Amino acid sequence: MATNDLLEKRLALFPVTTTYSGAAGSATLRIGGCDLQALADRYGTPLYLFDGATLDAAAAAYQEALQRHYPGASGITYAGKAFMCKAIAQWAQRQGFWIDCTGAGEIGVAVAAGLPRDRILVHGVNKSKEDLEAAVAHAGTIVVDNLPELYRLAGLLRTGSTTPQLWIRVRPGLAVDTHIYRQTGQEESKFGMAPAEVVAAVQFCQTEGLHLTGLHFHQGSHFHDPAPVGPALDTVLDLLVELRGQTGWYPEILCPGGGWGVAYHEEELPHPSIDRYVEFVAQRLVAGCQARALPLPTLRLEPGRSLVAQAGVAVYRVDTVKRTGARRWLLIDGGMADNPRPALYGARYSALPVTAPDRPVAGMTWIAGPYCESGDVLIEGLVLPALEAGELLAVPVSGAYHLAMGSNYNGARKPAVLWLREGCAYTILRRETVEDLLLRETELPPDA
Ligand SMILES: Cc1ncc(COP(=O)(O)O)c(C=O)c1O
Repeated sequence: MATNDLLEKRLALFPVTTTYSGAAGSATLRIGGCDLQALADRYGTPLYLFDGATLDAAAAAYQEALQRHYPGASGITYAGKAFMCKAIAQWAQRQGFWIDCTGAGEIGVAVAAGLPRDRILVHGVNKSKEDLEAAVAHAGTIVVDNLPELYRLAGLLRTGSTTPQLWIRVRPGLAVDTHIYRQTGQEESKFGMAPAEVVAAVQFCQTEGLHLTGLHFHQGSHFHDPAPVGPALDTVLDLLVELRGQTGWYPEILCPGGGWGVAYHEEELPHPSIDRYVEFVAQRLVAGCQARALPLPTLRLEPGRSLVAQAGVAVYRVDTVKRTGARRWLLIDGGMADNPRPALYGARYSALPVTAPDRPVAGMTWIAGPYCESGDVLIEGLVLPALEAGELLAVPVSGAYHLAMGSNYNGARKPAVLWLREGCAYTILRRETVEDLLLRETELPPDA
């Protein structure tokens, strides 16, 4: 591929505001009107950037698609597990979204962000007592994963003064096409209840007078073909017919989860649109309800990655250029501690130099981080210009499941995160320090 074609394709992975300007050979990448070289010089690297305009565009794509394709009531819940902090929770609230929190930690962040109870929904496959107590104290909706959890929750609700809505998570027995570690809907998955257990759960809620309003399923994360959602919807609607007959209960809200994928690499472009996914789900739900003479429930989608991934860019500094046999390595100052996805599931990424991205490419490059694992290779074999030590590398599609799954391995300090909009950069997470790492530490007592 000619250098310019490759550059244009790679730029399409970046936030929608990405440009490069300056004389040929010395142009720099800009996002949200901010110069990436200047940001890295000021805030250090690794540095994570979120572009407000790209987040807004993804949110609008979902909202417009729901309005276009679903005749009933609808809404979006942002899956906070993709990237959670106060700023993103506040952004989600401004969009009119609910936020899905997994456990007491994410609930605490959403509460600190000022989200009201009716915007907080709680998920979790094995909610601890602390998680359930936080959910009862702060959430408007709790999604129940299994029967033992339902019984524990009922005990808490009997003694408490709040009455959150409950949803039941059903396991439809069908996953989407994605990496096995990200599949959740299959029969042997640890998530959710089998249809027969759902019947028992509904009957239990009726006996206990619990406020059961919804049914949820989620088949997996990062899929590109919505087809498997169709049979899962059919399974769930058949279950609803049975439930209606046996218990008289019918959900106000149906949530087929999230999971819509994104392109991480130029070879995955063009990626099918959010509109295509929403259209498929909406049409199948409408047709399925019509065929079974069921009323249309409120449709709530629960995307994470497809809302935030493209808005995020990771900027690293190349510290060392190294050769091993035929390989040219760029050793950069971040890797599996801020982005474990390549090590976890062989995720493929692309990248561009921050300065002169329009330089001719020089050959295959391997990009690795500083951590003591041979698996700490961020990108295996990418055609790039010949970057030198000291240069900056921008990795697109870094907004989802990077920092959220990051670690302090080798004492890594979590990167600073900036929110970019119209030439302004706002620090939404400052860089972690050694002092932060020591906050939980105590001395070893002499007699221990
Ligand atoms: C229950 C649930 N909902 C929503 C999501 C969001 O998935 P994604 O970020 O791929 O849209 C997940 C992710 O695994 C999930 O487990």
